[in-house]
Amino acid sequence: MSDVVAEKPVWTRKHLLTLNDLSPEEILYVLDTAESFKEVSTRSIKKVPALRGRVVVTAFFEDSTRTRMSFTLAAQRLSADILDFSAKISSASKGESLRDTARNIEAMGVDIIIVRHSSAGAAYDITQAVDCCVINAGDGQHAHPTQGLLDLFTIRESKGRIDGLNVAIAGDIAHSRVARSDLRGLIKLGANVTLVGPPTLVPRSFEKLGAHITSDFDAILPKMDVINMLRIQQERITSSVFPSIREYIRLFGMNADRLKRCKPDVLIMHPGPVNRGKELAADVADGPNSSILRQVTNGLAVRMAVLFLCQQAAAGNT
Ligand code: NCD
Repeated sequence: MSDVVAEKPVWTRKHLLTLNDLSPEEILYVLDTAESFKEVSTRSIKKVPALRGRVVVTAFFEDSTRTRMSFTLAAQRLSADILDFSAKISSASKGESLRDTARNIEAMGVDIIIVRHSSAGAAYDITQAVDCCVINAGDGQHAHPTQGLLDLFTIRESKGRIDGLNVAIAGDIAHSRVARSDLRGLIKLGANVTLVGPPTLVPRSFEKLGAHITSDFDAILPKMDVINMLRIQQERITSSVFPSIREYIRLFGMNADRLKRCKPDVLIMHPGPVNRGKELAADVADGPNSSILRQVTNGLAVRMAVLFLCQQAAAGNT
């Protein structure tokens, strides 16, 4: 009998739908894999053959610039064939169900479907209809796992760790899938997370997940290592949630004056798209503390890692 015990692979998932059920080890494994893929983007020939012969489809039922381009480039750098399904010019606008659309996409020999949808649970729903890998690129206000991972990657790269850091997520928490994914990931990796915003946009229920909640932005500024500014998700807001945008900016906008009251090396993050002059002043967005463009660069490496690991798991090569 062999005394060699096969090590259990860390990553065995063919889908990535949320960070909620990932272990800290799985998250760190994705971040480490992304680190090795980041090097690929610095080469003059930015390609590796990891997904050669595989077919990846981006199926976006909701607007996106960064995320769709990032996934597309990530798949191209892994040498996959990549196809774009545009909901606005497809049969979805003729009444085809999401599951039927997904089944038809898979029937063309597709290996990975990357889906963005305005309904929470849409990516999960697709996993019930197909056998191929499904990656959630944002479903309603529920989850945006690759944004969560790229934010974790950027924080770790900048601060050297995540454990023990004080991280604030500021703004429209209630309607933000980024806030939900960031919060889950940060808590799992040992950060102290504070959610800050008007009470109407910061549900108390997040305390159950381990977050601190406050509406006093100025009081927490000096303690924070990282502040992630969120856009007001106007497209998901149906009633009036704060008195006026001027009042919101006065209380919750990040500007040069507030930045002066933060730690000198505070990291100011934003998932984009930034509404300059609202949640974030232009000089702070473009200043030395801002990691906005670094987040975009890192997103590519993180998405390469996610596509690679899920495909490996689906092929049984873990
Ligand atoms: C975010 C999203 O779509 O959830 N953007 C992104 O993916 N980079 C955040 C937002 O739209 O404000």
